[in-house]
Amino acid sequence: MQPVREAHEYIKLFDQLNIDLALTDDCPMTETLNSQWLIAKYPKAIPRASDFRWFEAPLPILRDGDVRVRNLLLSLDPTNRLWISGEETYLPAQHIGDVVRGGAIGIVEESRNTRLKVGDLVSGLLGWQLYYSGDARGLVQLPRIEGVPLLAYHGVLGAVGLTAYFGLLEIGCPQAGESVLVSAAAGAVGSLVGQIAKIKGCEVVGLAGSDDKCRWLTEELHFDAAINYRTANLNRALRESCRKGVDVYFDNVGGEILNAALGCINRKGRVVTCGLISQYNAELPVHNLSNLSRFLIQRARMEAFIVVDYLPRAAEALRQLADWLLEGRLKYRVDLVQGLEHAPQTLNKLFDGSNEGKLVVQVSPAP
Ligand SMILES: NC(=O)c1ccc[n+]([C@@H]2O[C@H](COP(=O)([O-])OP(=O)(O)OC[C@H]3O[C@@H](n4cnc5c(N)ncnc54)[C@H](OP(=O)(O)O)[C@@H]3O)[C@@H](O)[C@H]2O)c1
Repeated sequence: MQPVREAHEYIKLFDQLNIDLALTDDCPMTETLNSQWLIAKYPKAIPRASDFRWFEAPLPILRDGDVRVRNLLLSLDPTNRLWISGEETYLPAQHIGDVVRGGAIGIVEESRNTRLKVGDLVSGLLGWQLYYSGDARGLVQLPRIEGVPLLAYHGVLGAVGLTAYFGLLEIGCPQAGESVLVSAAAGAVGSLVGQIAKIKGCEVVGLAGSDDKCRWLTEELHFDAAINYRTANLNRALRESCRKGVDVYFDNVGGEILNAALGCINRKGRVVTCGLISQYNAELPVHNLSNLSRFLIQRARMEAFIVVDYLPRAAEALRQLADWLLEGRLKYRVDLVQGLEHAPQTLNKLFDGSNEGKLVVQVSPAP
């Protein structure tokens, strides 16, 4: 199978993004209206409705090489919060008035492109809007595989799966019998990290924000233990659940949970810095890493990564992830919210923890 034949095209998309999503005043328009969310203000702390602006405008007429894509499923990710901050990240900064950047799956409805034809399913940074109109070079065509729902391309067979796969296996380097601790463990990335670590023969402990999430981790995903970090005495619970210490800590949250995990790190342990969600809205980020002394004494290592660095190797990971998925060894949940109009408030589910699995907005009906 070829889940993503041209993964490197994702990278080209990033380069073109700012051009593609900008509405140019001088291009001729059709009579069909597009609906879009624009950045109205850079959020301070938790994003608010007033940080976004709903905008409706006619669709531009396509140029040679362009496609028109109707968005079906918009992926909401913690990184959206960084992209709307006005700061340069691993992608260029977005500006006030830009269409909010976002990954989506859509269907080609009009094409002046030789590679993509009407009816093709594509994935890319299509933006928080009903229609994407523009350059097709960065769009990846999605295969239709029996038994694989479209939603899987936002999770296990998308950037989330690649993040879990490369972050754990390339940076965490877990060995059979080692102990792996993962935070935001019931989330999109974390739940896959824990399951891949189990496939590799590790003992896995997850941190999650509710008893229901913890039950899902142990009863359905077969984690060895799960800790509700909101109600537990974290240091004590970690000592009890990670009796042999922690060889690999896969960090999705940073802050105090990172500090607590460092307090259990083993000799030559590895900390994979995947995300810092506890800090994305923080007006006063946590700087207290009092357990760094243990990290030093244990000769541990901490390394960060951004999944885009691994896109040239996407095909090898996707083949393996697809096999595990079809064999029933990877499970996932999707939190599907209806309606593009709800995107701004839905994004905050990632920060209050009310999302149950990969957070996706249904923008328009799938064919
Ligand atoms: N490096 C990369 O290339 C890359 C790529 C993708 C994602 N990421 C990072 O991976 C992490 C997880 O992303 P995801 O898409 O899988 O999201 P997710 O885990 O599905 O959703 C976010 C979860 O984070 C937890 N959370 C929110 N605020 C928290 C806080 N203050 N303290 C502790 N936990 C908190 C919540 O779960 P609880 O209910 O358990 O609190 C929430 O459900 C994020 O940090 C993201 O930035 C990095």
